[in-house]
Amino acid sequence: MKIIICKDYDEVSKRAASLVIENIQNSPKLNIGLATGSSPIGLYNNLIKAYQNKEVSFREISSYNLDEYIGIERSHPQSYYNFMFENLFRHIDIDQKNIHIPNNDLSKIDDIVNDYNQILHENPLDLQILGIGSNGHIGFNEPGTPLDSETFIVTLDEQTRKDNSRFFKNLDEVPKFAITMGIKNIMYSNKIILIASGKEKAHVVKQMIKGKITNHFPASILQLHPDCTIILDEDAAAQLS
Ligand code: F6R
Repeated sequence: MKIIICKDYDEVSKRAASLVIENIQNSPKLNIGLATGSSPIGLYNNLIKAYQNKEVSFREISSYNLDEYIGIERSHPQSYYNFMFENLFRHIDIDQKNIHIPNNDLSKIDDIVNDYNQILHENPLDLQILGIGSNGHIGFNEPGTPLDSETFIVTLDEQTRKDNSRFFKNLDEVPKFAITMGIKNIMYSNKIILIASGKEKAHVVKQMIKGKITNHFPASILQLHPDCTIILDEDAAAQLS
């Protein structure tokens, strides 16, 4: 693991963006795995700025999102589909046909899971962006998920639902299920960049980097990835030394 410690979230976001841009410049047809949540918002803002300044084009890249809630429509303001369009896609020149976000139509969910997994097999990821949950999840691979899991339907942890209730009116509104890439899909990416900031993440960051590798703490598996960069602000890195 390569650990980069930045002063604050702003610097974390700029650093992550420059790495992503460098990867796209080296490989314009990059297959990139994307995360939602608070952590990558600054990264996405910086990618939008770089596009507006004509420093990078997303025209030929393909994107693959980690996960999507089940139980809310794609048109719901908190769907990850909506998140991605609001926070990145509608501001850049990515080709719509190259965007992949797991569908969440319950009537076809088994086919959707198989098809998404097949797409990931056929289009190996060059770079995966991750955040980390307060229970050590990556994507929505909650504690206890087998390390060799591939795309599946997950019952969200109560902790995850509580954490994400900040985006909803109340806890009852937070979906109980989601579709997520599995740990194996994530580990198969050629490179990984994980972003974490804030003192609330300090204990999970420590466990991810220094703790035992176990499926009870899914992010710990990243210790085994050959090209994983962790970008932290000083608060998130506080328990490392
Ligand atoms: C999001 C995802 C999650 C988040 C994690 C951290 O697509 O897969 O693993 O990265 O829950 O969320 P934030 O960044 O909101 O703390």
